[in-house]
Amino acid sequence: MKTGIANPWQHVRQVEGYFDSLAGTWEAHYSAEGSMRGRLDRFRVPLMSQILPPAPVLDFGCGSGDLSAYLAEAGYEIHGVDRARAMIQRARKRFASPLMEFSEVQNAQLPFFDGQFAACVSSSVLEYVAPLAIYLTELRRVVKKGGVALVTVPNPYHPVRMVESMEKTLWSMIPRIGNHWPEGRVRYLNASVNRMRPEQWRREMAAARWRVEWVEGTSKPLVMICARAI
Ligand SMILES: C[S@@+](CC[C@H](N)C(=O)[O-])C[C@H]1O[C@@H](n2cnc3c(N)ncnc32)[C@H](O)[C@@H]1O
Repeated sequence: MKTGIANPWQHVRQVEGYFDSLAGTWEAHYSAEGSMRGRLDRFRVPLMSQILPPAPVLDFGCGSGDLSAYLAEAGYEIHGVDRARAMIQRARKRFASPLMEFSEVQNAQLPFFDGQFAACVSSSVLEYVAPLAIYLTELRRVVKKGGVALVTVPNPYHPVRMVESMEKTLWSMIPRIGNHWPEGRVRYLNASVNRMRPEQWRREMAAARWRVEWVEGTSKPLVMICARAI
């Protein structure tokens, strides 16, 4: 299900509000027992196998900065950007390093020059953006030819995602049910709109001059896509 959003501007504002509200607690996902801790190496290992540090890397949708900080520790020069101001404030407060910078971005236009980065990482962000094609094109612009993008997105074949999709279908068919659903759940599922199969991601990315080289994690809730800037 690719985004059929009537008003992308309104959608982006809703996503921003949703993640602003989570900024104070997001880092707990990366604590020793946190559910997202495993993501750090899921990004670092394939990044290091393709682009050696030091190299400039964009962390698109960096949240409160954990992946940025982890990659900076590995020696990359990281620029983390996020639409949610509270996330960027939190990242700046938590991490200070000459190898790291954090910026708030208001739209798909990124404040970087063409080919500024050797790579882009984006951990569970692209499912929230609209219009997707514009973001993919802009990410391609700021990564140099031959550079890589490593992104995680929801795997629609995983049972967890199937349940999520069924929940949304249920609300749209019987709106009264949505009124009784937990508010956080409704906000999350309304925000997370780009739910596509790997072959659809491949097509969307190809249109923005990204060639998908591999997809990993097809039995997990999140797949990782590695694409080359062509
Ligand atoms: C699920 S969180 C992931 C945060 C971080 N990448 C991580 O893995 O911990 C999604 C992040 O994407 C950001 N985001 C969503 N839409 C965005 C957009 N259009 N531009 C920049 N950031 C965006 C949100 O504000 C949020 O911080």
